Amino acid sequence: MSDKKKQKQKITTKIIRQYKMNDKIKSARKKLQMLTCYDFQTAQLLDETDLDMILVGDSVGNVVLGYETTVEVTIEEMLVFAAAVRRGAENTFLVVDLPFGSYSSFDLGLKNSCKLFQRSRAEALKLEGAHKYKLELIERLTQIGIPIMGHIGLTPQSVNELGGYYLHGKEKERAKSLVQEAKDLENAGAFSIVLECILPEVSEEITNSLSIPTIGIGSGNMVDGEVLVINDLLKMGKERPPKFCRPLADLYEYKKELINKYLADR
Ligand code: KIV
Repeated sequence: MSDKKKQKQKITTKIIRQYKMNDKIKSARKKLQMLTCYDFQTAQLLDETDLDMILVGDSVGNVVLGYETTVEVTIEEMLVFAAAVRRGAENTFLVVDLPFGSYSSFDLGLKNSCKLFQRSRAEALKLEGAHKYKLELIERLTQIGIPIMGHIGLTPQSVNELGGYYLHGKEKERAKSLVQEAKDLENAGAFSIVLECILPEVSEEITNSLSIPTIGIGSGNMVDGEVLVINDLLKMGKERPPKFCRPLADLYEYKKELINKYLADR
């Protein structure tokens, strides 16, 4: 028997767009699943699982590069990490984050999106926010064949403007504006939207008012898909993962034990 494993079927934007957890399919279909990844070997591993999508998130800045915020991540850094992940995971739908400053105007966003999309060989890019010029950018990018995943709620690239990391949608006005942002992103052509740290009731309202899937993180259960930072899920770091993520293991302590055991045996 050939030891070559059957290649997994890569999901497409067409399939993702239809991935709504409406009543008819709720019981039959699991949620869309996305995890972050930043390196070749982990990408190889994820490529051998049933994971739907890999995100090379700009969270690479926090968990791999040790930056204070994602604001420090550059397009050159994203290119290196995205290319490594692509080499390891040819058969999984790959989304890459446009980092801070790389789409601070329509023209810059267009130029950098083409560069990142071409050089990473990703299936899609993700950007944060729903300002008017970003909607125009999304419209143009989808016209030229670059699928865009939106991202609203807690948008870490705006942490300084937002004044910290907190749950969004608690005030009526903010809840209303989040629903509007999601609709605007859908109308601009986004094929899915990440809802980060949004009040569950509001993310449910957003999910019900869109025909494209919502992908939640810290936003309750009424979403069409879920995304987590893999380093949180496996507790690969020293810090405690965010409250909404229950780690499957404590790889940080486990690896430390192994190294200490190895050193004790020398
Ligand atoms: O960069 C990232 O990891 C993200 C997810 C939290 C959605 O944007």
